[in-house]
Amino acid sequence: MRIGLVGAGRIGAFHAATLKGLPAVDQVVVTDVDASRAELVAKDLGLEFAADVDQLLSSGLDGVVITAATSAHAALIGKAVAAGIPTFCEKPVALDLAETQQVVALVEASGVPVHIGFQRRFDLGYQAAAEQVRSGALGFIHHIRANTNDAFPPPQEYIPTSGGFFRDCTVHDFDILRFVTGREVVSVFATGANRGEAFFGEYGDVDAAAALLTLDDGTFVSVSGTRYNAAGHDVRMEVLGSLGSVAVGLDEHTALKSAEAGVSFPGGEPHATFMDRFRPAYVAELTAFTEVVAGSREVPCTVRDALQAFRTADACELSRRENRVVLLEEIGA
Ligand SMILES: NC(=O)c1ccc[n+]([C@@H]2O[C@H](COP(=O)([O-])OP(=O)(O)OC[C@H]3O[C@@H](n4cnc5c(N)ncnc54)[C@H](O)[C@@H]3O)[C@@H](O)[C@H]2O)c1
Repeated sequence: MRIGLVGAGRIGAFHAATLKGLPAVDQVVVTDVDASRAELVAKDLGLEFAADVDQLLSSGLDGVVITAATSAHAALIGKAVAAGIPTFCEKPVALDLAETQQVVALVEASGVPVHIGFQRRFDLGYQAAAEQVRSGALGFIHHIRANTNDAFPPPQEYIPTSGGFFRDCTVHDFDILRFVTGREVVSVFATGANRGEAFFGEYGDVDAAAALLTLDDGTFVSVSGTRYNAAGHDVRMEVLGSLGSVAVGLDEHTALKSAEAGVSFPGGEPHATFMDRFRPAYVAELTAFTEVVAGSREVPCTVRDALQAFRTADACELSRRENRVVLLEEIGA
C-alpha cells in the first residue's frame, strides 16, 4: 500500500522509518510545510517527497499519517477525510475542545476511518493490566498511580503549538486510564508549576503537574508528570486492587534507583526518550493502521476516544487555572 506522511519533525521522521519497515507498506511519501525537512527525511530514508499536502493527497494514497504540529491536526484531518483517505493522526486531535468536537462530528458523518495515535494502547504491559482489571483478578481497584516524566523538555518552539502540558503530555495517561479500567473520569483537581526554563510560563504553560481524578466507580487516580527528569524517560502505571496490584513500566529500565542498601533493581539502562520506551508499541500501532487501511480491523482508537481524553485534559487545565475541583460534566460532552 501507498502511505502519505504529513509533518517530518521528531515523531514524523520516526514514524516514516517505521512505516518503511512494515511488510504491508510498499511506498511512503513525505511532505511538510517546511519542505526542506520533508526532503531531508525522504532522502535519509529513501522515500518519495511531495511538495505540499494537496499534492500528497492527490497522489493515489491508500492511507495518510498526520504527524504535523498539533495546531495543524484538525485542518489536515478535514482535508484527508474530504479526500476519503483512511487517516492516522497523532494525538491530540486539536488544540481546543470546540475544534476537537468539530472533528468528531465531521469524521463520524464521513464514515472515513480515522485512528488517533495513543500508542500506549499497543504496549503489552498496559494490555496485560487492562486484562487483569477487566477479568476481576485484582478485585475492586481503589487507587491508580500514573506518571509521564520526560527526561528533557522539547524545544521552546514546540510549546506554543502543543496545547499545554495536560493536553500534550498527560493526555496519554488520561487515554490509557480509560483503556485499562473501562471507566470514565467524573472529577479532577489539578495543579502545575514552572520549575524549569522560564519559557513554559511565558506561554502560560507548566513543566511539572499533578492531578487527582475520581472515576465513575469511585477509584482515585493520581497522575503526575514533568518535562525535567534527567534520570530518564519514565512512564508507568500502578493499579492497586483489593485482591492484587500490578505495575506497568516497572522493569530493569525503570528510571528509578532504590535508596535501600543492597538493592540493585532496576539495574538496566533507563529509557532516554518516548521512542526508546514505546518502540514496539509504535510499530504495533502503525501495523494496526495498515490493517484499518486494508479494511481488516476496526479503528482501535477513535476520534471520540480522543475527545474523552481531551475533556479530562481540559478539566485539569481549568482546575489548575481556577484552583478548584472541576466536574467533567462542566466540560462540553
Ligand atoms: N504519540 C506520541 O508519543 C507522540 C510523541 C511526540 C509527538 N507527538 C505528537 O506528534 C505531533 C508532532 O510532534 P513533534 O514532536 O514531531 O513536533 P515537531 O515540531 O518536531 O514536528 C512538527 C512538524 O510539523 C510540521 N508542520 C506544522 N504544520 C504543518 C502543516 N500545516 N502541514 C505540514 N507540516 C506541518 C512542522 O514543520 C514540523 O516539521 C504533535 O501533535 C505531538 O503531540 C506524539
